[in-house]
Amino acid sequence: MVHMGAMDNAFFPRLDSIDEELADIWPVPAPVNLELAIILPTFNERGNLAPLVERIDRAIGTAAVWEVIIVDDDSRDGTANEARALAQKDARVRVIQRIGRRGLSSAVIEGFCATAAPYVAVMDADHQHDPALLPGMLAALKSGEAEICVASRFAEGASTAEWAAPEREKLSTYANALARKMTGVELTDPMSGYFMLPADAARALVPRLSAIGFKILLDLLATNDRAMKVKEFPLNFAARREGESKLDRAILFDFLAGLYDKTFGKVIPTRFALFGTVGAAGVVVHFLVLTSLLFVMDHAFTFAQSIAVLVAMSFNFWLNNWLTYRDKRLTGAGELLRGWLGFIATCAIGGFANVAIATFLEGQGVFWVLAALAGIVVGSVWNYALSSRFVWGRF
Ligand code: GDD
Ligand code: MN
Repeated sequence: MVHMGAMDNAFFPRLDSIDEELADIWPVPAPVNLELAIILPTFNERGNLAPLVERIDRAIGTAAVWEVIIVDDDSRDGTANEARALAQKDARVRVIQRIGRRGLSSAVIEGFCATAAPYVAVMDADHQHDPALLPGMLAALKSGEAEICVASRFAEGASTAEWAAPEREKLSTYANALARKMTGVELTDPMSGYFMLPADAARALVPRLSAIGFKILLDLLATNDRAMKVKEFPLNFAARREGESKLDRAILFDFLAGLYDKTFGKVIPTRFALFGTVGAAGVVVHFLVLTSLLFVMDHAFTFAQSIAVLVAMSFNFWLNNWLTYRDKRLTGAGELLRGWLGFIATCAIGGFANVAIATFLEGQGVFWVLAALAGIVVGSVWNYALSSRFVWGRF
């Protein structure tokens, strides 16, 4: 019963008396001293979750108080619901379901920010990363032996024998040499997706990360002002337990985009640079179509030019969707059709602005090449800003 004092009325009983009442039936749990959050970014990993949580439990046991944070990008296979089912049985499992967003790096960052644990680990949810390394990593961080622990596929004692992807292994070798230059750290596997560091250190770097693509570890190391003290743990990189890799295609592309972002990205943003490159490729396509219609098929110029514009715009839409916005790629007939129409509408307005500005400047006596360039720059910025917002839904 809620005690009613002289000052209370029936609708607003004294709050502290409610607190007392509640404490009897629903006591505040004792502090847990949570130590480690294991962040599992997931995309279609439903069947892998339960056995992985079990393996983590077996690996850490009672050596530390831990939680698992599953950050799922609304996988169609119901990974998020599976995570919730696990969380009903085991309060150490938590879930973040992101709707309308994609990306490994941004998912990991979300996990960093969602925990109270002083240490955070990141690993694949597909069983390629052995949880047995977790206690050793945690110990190395706590003792101050390392500022960040990295499981390496290429350190001495590691193996990738089970990994059936030779071309990716080769790629890693080149990428590693480049990465060493960027981070100033001797690392055998800077692209590793399995690492651990203090949570506050991770969060402190977040505002300056590029968060594009998948190489979050590299991003963290390169963003830190000085070289971090790293300890590597040899990893027996296993085969995926079930499902398929999401990173096979365009992995090199992601890497190069990240490299650009860290070097010239502040001058010309990565996405805009990509958008511009795609646009330049569109000009090539335009002239290929135009010349073949004019000279091979003998069509009238207006007709040839119109078709060339349409083909070049469609080509640009496709390439931007595939490359520039690969993390927000539109799929399925309906989405693609809407995106294509939106892109063409955007470009039509951009094209109009382009011609208007160039004509105006030329009329003011500006050298025609400069006038044309000014039109192109204004038109491209317009197209970029609008299509980014309205076609691929970025703000
Ligand atoms: N939330 C979210 N969003 N998770 C994602 C996304 C995404 O867009 N893309 C992939 N994941 C999840 C996967 O479900 C998996 O748990 C983990 O991120 C790694 O993806 P995989 O598809 O297993 O990548 P991989 O095994 O081919 O790549 C490995 O090597 C890379 C370097 O070569 C991983 O260890 C990567 O982390 C590593 O960077
Ligand atoms: Mn994997």
